[in-house]
Amino acid sequence: MGTTGTDWWRDAVFYQVYIRSFADGNGDGVGDLRGLRGRLGYLRDLGVDALWITPFFPSPMADHGYDVADPRDVEPVFGDLDEFDALLADAHALGLRITIDVVPNHTSSEHAWFRAALAAAPGSPERARYVFRDGRGPDGAEPPNNWPSVFGGPAWTRVPDGQWYLHIFAPEQPDLDFGNPEVVADLEETLRFWLDRGVDGFRIDVAHGMAKPAGLPDMVPMDDTGLLDDHGPGDHRFDQDGVHAVHRRIRAVLDSYPGTMAVGEVWVSDDDRLARYLRPDELQLAFNFKLLTAEWEPTALRDAVVHSLAAVDGTPAPACWVLSNHDRPRHVTRYGDGELGTRRARAAALLQLALPGVAYLYNGDELGMPDVDLPDAALQDPIWFRSEGAERGRDACRIPVPWSGSEPSYGFSSGSGTWLPMPEGWTALTAEAQAADPASMQSLYRAALALRAGSPAFSGEGLEWLPSPEGCLAFRRPGGLVFLLNLSSAPVPLPEGTVLLASTDVTGGELPTDAAAWVVA
Ligand code: GLC
Repeated sequence: MGTTGTDWWRDAVFYQVYIRSFADGNGDGVGDLRGLRGRLGYLRDLGVDALWITPFFPSPMADHGYDVADPRDVEPVFGDLDEFDALLADAHALGLRITIDVVPNHTSSEHAWFRAALAAAPGSPERARYVFRDGRGPDGAEPPNNWPSVFGGPAWTRVPDGQWYLHIFAPEQPDLDFGNPEVVADLEETLRFWLDRGVDGFRIDVAHGMAKPAGLPDMVPMDDTGLLDDHGPGDHRFDQDGVHAVHRRIRAVLDSYPGTMAVGEVWVSDDDRLARYLRPDELQLAFNFKLLTAEWEPTALRDAVVHSLAAVDGTPAPACWVLSNHDRPRHVTRYGDGELGTRRARAAALLQLALPGVAYLYNGDELGMPDVDLPDAALQDPIWFRSEGAERGRDACRIPVPWSGSEPSYGFSSGSGTWLPMPEGWTALTAEAQAADPASMQSLYRAALALRAGSPAFSGEGLEWLPSPEGCLAFRRPGGLVFLLNLSSAPVPLPEGTVLLASTDVTGGELPTDAAAWVVA
């Protein structure tokens, strides 16, 4: 393995593989485990330490795998358990660790438990694994409370006998009741199933969900799409105190497999509330989403760094930086798209990789992939359907990765058809073209990851802010790395010292607008 020790993850670079879109090994236009296995050498050469693979479990794909019908098997579209074991063995032989998603908050409506719940009567033990309630109003025809689904519409669906069930996400994703010991025991069984096969850890989906408040009270009303991501105190669907008991159970399992870890998807913006998930007997890591949501603007970026560090201060956890993932517009696009967005994304990559702690890359970050505007007919995200077209959803950031060649599917698949269409004109974006170009985004990432892994300048936790020209951010790491980002409208002088790497040409001794540099004295 690249990084040794049981806490190998403390400064690791993880690479998120959105399995449907990474590499297709059987020509059906959907990425799979065999395709990923064939690209492990690329990931090793890129210089990442570990992978996070998004759900590959049996699923009707109402939410592209986040609706899990059986958490202890492999969806045939993605392969089978033998293929997974072979992938794990190959990855470990190359020094890459493998982490996988677990989705505790809900199952698919096709999970055996939910089918049994529908077939059973109100009040039965089968229904008690989920959140079934009688409705309000005459004949119980109104939902039990006012909670909206994150994907739009109410969070409740009525079944033929008149009861309602809770689904914070799509109706095909019924929420489990974590007050039921059987539910917690089943999660532990899932963790052990994959740990026994040899996985190195997990990404916990909706890690601030799971617990629901007693009595399921109405929440503070929000806009009628329900698409709120800053789950503040009035939002009873998330961040309930009871969730921490679940995290302690997860951690107890992990502690019996030394060297394994979990990162939580915790959409909680308050620093102190987030820190609660990182107590010594809970999650090892929680994504700090503040960089992912910050504007390209000096105060916003500095605040994102300051608050992400403040949230982990006093906990055992390092910060955990994310620029993009499969749920949000990609950062090239957020920062202005085209040349401008790409230029800024290069600088952002150096920011992310200079910060102390863990970095999560999303597949295609290293190619500078932008979002793609898809025609209505191509859209597949449940958000598009649930919001009745008011929200286009997340397909734009989930386009398959272009590997080689000059036509769709650019080596992603043996055929030209892909589950989301790939655009014309992506020849220069392919991994193959970028590998041959020292000025490419991929070459920047390779150089940055090699330096980060090999230079003592990156050692030590924490950072010291340095005085810098107006509109710039500058800090020093304990090991000596000096980072400078220029967000002002004019070039600024580089710090004294040797430039290890810069996001653009700095031969004149100045750092241009929207560029970043790594310098050692
Ligand atoms: C998480 C996933 C997202 C999924 C949701 C429901 O937010 O990242 O893709 O739709 O959980 O499982």
